[in-house]
Amino acid sequence: FDKYSFQQDLINWYQSIRRELPWRENQDPYRIWVSEIMLQQTRVDTVIPYFNQFMERFPTVKDLANADEQDVLKAWEGLGYYSRARNLHTAVKEVVATYDGQIPSESSELKKLKGIGPYTLGAIMSIAFDEPIPAVDGNVMRVMSRIFEMYDNIADQKSKKKFEQVVEAVISKEDPSSFNQGLMELGALICSPKKPKCNECPVSYYCTAFSKGIQEELPVKTKA
Ligand code: ADE
Repeated sequence: FDKYSFQQDLINWYQSIRRELPWRENQDPYRIWVSEIMLQQTRVDTVIPYFNQFMERFPTVKDLANADEQDVLKAWEGLGYYSRARNLHTAVKEVVATYDGQIPSESSELKKLKGIGPYTLGAIMSIAFDEPIPAVDGNVMRVMSRIFEMYDNIADQKSKKKFEQVVEAVISKEDPSSFNQGLMELGALICSPKKPKCNECPVSYYCTAFSKGIQEELPVKTKA
């Protein structure tokens, strides 16, 4: 397994399929943060108009921090999972109070903020700040389980740490943003739960499950 060839093949593919999305216009950590929170339980096409309106209404951390919670929830209406909006609002108020409105670029500071768990932390650190921190969600666990033939049960909360450790070991230090987003898009577009499109996969060459023909048997997902 040549880690560097794997990184390069994944990154080249990501750059070839990369879509222009409103939160990909720049590396503003506020925009990345809001987008990643919205994208956690909601699909891209649904998020786009909400994201654009949210940014018009609350263009900066300070605008959002100064808003009434009711107005924030109103802008979230239709996205659901309102605790995401409440936590985000709490967190940006903390950013204004503690960091004068500057979102911290230090992961040890960022992770103290309400609603920033390991996935959001990795997404913001890699996409906004180019730091090689894993951003592991369900899609990424599926991709990794197949490439590295991992039998860890993804329904078990404890497995996520294991996947994070494996991503940590192979993540690109040169372009962690494209690497992490490449894994996410691979899971969304190619490495689907059923009938993955291995013939179109940019990294099938490295995939242990594919070499054994067992890609549809992974990941293991058994509820207790
Ligand atoms: N899903 C959630 N965040 C994403 C991102 N930054 N790129 C692609 N898919 C995503």
